[in-house]
Amino acid sequence: MRAVVTGARGLLGEEVVDWLEGNEGDQVIRLRGRDELDIADTQAVVSFMRRVKPDFIVHCAAERDMDAAECNPRNAYMVNYFGTWNVALAAGLCDSLMVFISSEAVYDGKKDTMYTEDDPKNPLNVYGRSKAMAEEEVKSLLDKYFILRVPILFGGKGRTGDNRILNTVSALRSGECVTAPADQWTSPTYARDVAMAIGRMTRTPDDGHGLLACHGVAPRRGASPETGYGVYAVANKGKTSRYEFVCKLAELAGCKRSYVRPGSREGKPARRGRNTALDCACLERTFGLDLRPWEDALSECLKSMGLSS
Ligand SMILES: NC(=O)c1ccc[n+]([C@@H]2O[C@H](COP(=O)([O-])OP(=O)(O)OC[C@H]3O[C@@H](n4cnc5c(N)ncnc54)[C@H](OP(=O)(O)O)[C@@H]3O)[C@@H](O)[C@H]2O)c1
Repeated sequence: MRAVVTGARGLLGEEVVDWLEGNEGDQVIRLRGRDELDIADTQAVVSFMRRVKPDFIVHCAAERDMDAAECNPRNAYMVNYFGTWNVALAAGLCDSLMVFISSEAVYDGKKDTMYTEDDPKNPLNVYGRSKAMAEEEVKSLLDKYFILRVPILFGGKGRTGDNRILNTVSALRSGECVTAPADQWTSPTYARDVAMAIGRMTRTPDDGHGLLACHGVAPRRGASPETGYGVYAVANKGKTSRYEFVCKLAELAGCKRSYVRPGSREGKPARRGRNTALDCACLERTFGLDLRPWEDALSECLKSMGLSS
């Protein structure tokens, strides 16, 4: 299979490339960033995809900094909304499957329990709106798509200087205090586990009897009964506050927990939801993918980065 990965210089894109390259016989074409192909350029995106004719496109490129998006909405909509429209248009013209990485930020966070795919979208900020609008374009342009709503990601890859785990552990080890919101709940997720899920979802064979039928379940509204195409929440299991997450990180990295201070999600340019933890029962039912608890994933992530205590 031939795959194109956009945003391949990023935290998730690099993991996706690694996972796909581990499959013998796959050809992976990475688009690292806008210096290689600006996804906001319709002509460039369409002619590139037409030349390459991928079996599937994993679209990770985005402006993912919520505060930057709030301060520069034009850029956020150009990249996250219009860029995704371009990729979807090209995917349709090439009959490619598109995997679009969306976000928990499409929800308002007012729900007390975990969010499922059927909960209504009501984004609180520009970033969330750009993702919510992009989702609609993917759905209207394509039949063959996966839209993955993912929560806050962690991992060891991505651009140098931009790694949250590394920056936090370095700060704690040098005796600096780190503040994290104690009033924002989420399902922190290892980018490597999302990459594995994408890899598995893009190569689950359709045996003609229908994927969901294979797993013995009735199709969920919005998901295709033959292929499972549709919208999925993808997250490690569990729910925690951003503050408790950093406390756990400190503990696993052998740093002092007392250097982690509880803060608030308020006071930033972009509003954040109170609780955007995700329920991934649909992913498990459809693909048999049961992602491990976030604590186990974080522990493995730190080991792979050489940061465990
Ligand atoms: N990280 C999270 O916590 C999180 C949470 C929820 C959802 N997501 C979503 O997951 C996906 C991957 O996120 P990530 O954390 O891997 O992002 P990231 O580390 O910030 O990487 C973003 C990638 O997109 C590229 N990019 C940005 N603008 C571009 C443009 N105009 N044309 C082409 N490439 C462009 C960047 O390259 P250059 O900047 O070098 O051009 C980079 O390779 C995104 O869709 C993001 O919204 C992330």
